[in-house]
Amino acid sequence: MQIRQTSQGFNFDKYPTFKQNIDPKQRAWIEVKGKAIEANVRQLRTKLRKNCQFMAVVKADGYGHDAKLVSDYAIKGGASILGVATLNEGIKLRSFGVEKPILILGNLYTKRDLIISFNNHLMPTISSIRECLICNNIGKQFGLKFSLHLKVDTGMSRLGFESNKFVQQFEKIKSFENVSIEGIYSHLSSADEDNSLDPKSSTQLQRHKFQKLLKQINVHRNHNIKIHLANSAGMLLNKDFHFNMVRVGLSMYGYSPLAKIDKNLSLKPALFLKVKVAFIRNIDQGVSVSYGGKFVSSRKTKLAVLSIGYADGVPRNLSGKIKVIHNNKLYPQVGSITMDQMMVDITGSNEIKIGSTMVLLGSDGDKTISPLEWAKKSNTIPWEILCSFKNRLPRVQVD
Ligand SMILES: Cc1ncc(COP(=O)(O)O)c(C=O)c1O
Repeated sequence: MQIRQTSQGFNFDKYPTFKQNIDPKQRAWIEVKGKAIEANVRQLRTKLRKNCQFMAVVKADGYGHDAKLVSDYAIKGGASILGVATLNEGIKLRSFGVEKPILILGNLYTKRDLIISFNNHLMPTISSIRECLICNNIGKQFGLKFSLHLKVDTGMSRLGFESNKFVQQFEKIKSFENVSIEGIYSHLSSADEDNSLDPKSSTQLQRHKFQKLLKQINVHRNHNIKIHLANSAGMLLNKDFHFNMVRVGLSMYGYSPLAKIDKNLSLKPALFLKVKVAFIRNIDQGVSVSYGGKFVSSRKTKLAVLSIGYADGVPRNLSGKIKVIHNNKLYPQVGSITMDQMMVDITGSNEIKIGSTMVLLGSDGDKTISPLEWAKKSNTIPWEILCSFKNRLPRVQVD
């Protein structure tokens, strides 16, 4: 009998290598319901001020859902523009054939990057005269206008023109012949906080500051310029935040950032995190499980070893705090979550076998586990949970 592979390695000359298509559901994966995204966008749009456009924020690979898939369904739902964070994210969408306008929400500051942005029909966010001049020169070089959005800082202290210099700088930019100001925007820092409707809240102060600036530069009569301030929370607060465009991420994916949930809104989560049971073992009472022996069995225990760990994006600090669903029943995760695996106590279950599928996030029967729940237990925010899932988890569309 021939041995193809030994501890010396594989003999490539003797045996041809071959690739096989691995089942994306072989280990752990993310299922994405494109139609949920479409329905969410459609529903959210019914809440918008008349003629207000919907920007689908698809940065960070569509909040971990797959940016191309999310973009396609968001556009079906009526999104008229997409928001990405980086040049690469924008180029990727263009390479997939996405034709809608795309705004880069992050900052491009070199001529090289801005030329690439221009050549790929990606609109940059401009926060300074310096960047705007580069864009004007690029436009001149190509004999065209460079479309862009100006950002003004109203209280986030991140990107954006300083608000007290904006009016003067806007006048200057208006004289640049080779740029086309397609939008003016700002970003809310705390719209998801409970006091956001309080007139003295930072959210309301930001809105007032933004409105005042818009009045001073007299753009409200120019309907071609998109004016936008609201993220999901701002959009859901009330129509005062809508202007003529909103930039929506989290709620499009099916989660409300607000503690008080609008009863007329039924957002559908689009993401399901699923995993296969790779191994089953029975342990006695008093046996420690996983690194550090943080969990010791208090009785004879049946464990399922799941093929997913923190290298897939499940936060390690959720160890021992989460549950997993199988066939409408919840099972507690026990012991430290390891890089590639985690253990679940399935004592008493005869239906879970090696190869069974368990649900970490999403619904099964009437049980649901949400990233909002994970975020709370992990002392973070749902945005971070969603964006942390790694490429090792195949994204599978399941409509
Ligand atoms: C500039 C900007 N606009 C809009 C959004 C969307 O925010 P949300 O996911 O809360 O809707 C983000 C997300 O972080 C952002 O950075």
